Amino acid sequence: MSEIANLKAGLIADIASADTLDAVEALRVGALGKNGVVTGLLKTLGGMSPDERLDKGPPIQDLRESVTAAITAKKAALEQAALDARLASETIDMTLPADLGPQGSVHPVSQVMDELAEIFADLGFSVATGPEIEDDWHNFTALNIPETHPARAMHDTFYFPDEEGQKRMLLRTHTSPVQIRTMMTTPPPIRIIAPGRVYRSDSDATHTPMFHQIEGLVIDKGITLGHLKWTLETFLKAFFEREDIVLRLRPSYFPFTEPSVEVDVGYTLVNGQRVIGGDGDVADGGWLEVLGSGMVNRRVIEACGLDPDEWQGFAFGTGVDRLAMLKYGMNDLRAFFDGDLRWLKHYGFSALDVPTLSGGVGA
Ligand code: PHE
Repeated sequence: MSEIANLKAGLIADIASADTLDAVEALRVGALGKNGVVTGLLKTLGGMSPDERLDKGPPIQDLRESVTAAITAKKAALEQAALDARLASETIDMTLPADLGPQGSVHPVSQVMDELAEIFADLGFSVATGPEIEDDWHNFTALNIPETHPARAMHDTFYFPDEEGQKRMLLRTHTSPVQIRTMMTTPPPIRIIAPGRVYRSDSDATHTPMFHQIEGLVIDKGITLGHLKWTLETFLKAFFEREDIVLRLRPSYFPFTEPSVEVDVGYTLVNGQRVIGGDGDVADGGWLEVLGSGMVNRRVIEACGLDPDEWQGFAFGTGVDRLAMLKYGMNDLRAFFDGDLRWLKHYGFSALDVPTLSGGVGA
């Protein structure tokens, strides 16, 4: 057997008996590395005469190819064996409950907005929205709030700096401008609610500079105060999930409604806690104001380009945060916006737990 054939047989045998990837790698370096035996033989080709090269070249090339192929095959076999061994020894128990990480919950404000949207959807109201950055006209003028009205004073309203030739811009102080935007773009009949953020320069335990309101608006023919009262009663019963909600309507004043009514609900004291429901005039009871409302002022209907002799309606507005506090027994409004996870864990809701006119998912 020639020297090269011997070498080849030896290397192939060594590779065949190598049983670790490290051993195969050591053989590769010894044969095909920079100073390897096969590499050394390949280098001798350069110094040979053409005839000699023709004679010795092919077996040397064959040696290199055979050794390379043997190493590649051996490596693949060892890797496959290692993988098989791992697959055989490691198991994943798919029946174990997965760690889902920290779970969020629905903020009470979002919860109450969802509840209100559900209740009013059952009454045929759709949800309308408007910008939080409003102009003076939509927030005040069109709502019949004259220049001299105290609501326009700087201490209540966050105004943007005046810009030459630009409308005066502000952060809306209530959701009522959505009434205007809806009447100007939607032909009546109209039945909408408009939940959203509003802003006033005010801060203490019961006031935050940003809070949430929900507006309601109905514009149709022949609408009366009776429709308003029924709607509010139906909504408050569904919201507080009690049949014994007693309303008290008090004459009031809002520039954009005429007549205007403030609505109180009766509560009774249970273990010193106010619980909504029952006649507020009983000895252990009282009244809580929950919303402002009234028949939409003719001037507002006119400002929106509608004929007030043809179209009438009612509007109401209430604080979402306040409703949440009353329903779920929370007492500090500021906690709503602190982002304290312990508070959220305590008061937060899971999705889909929303009452409707017919009682909701939980009922
Ligand atoms: N916009 C009034 C407020 O912020 C509430 C209201 C709305 C009153 C609609 C009457 C009709 O206090």
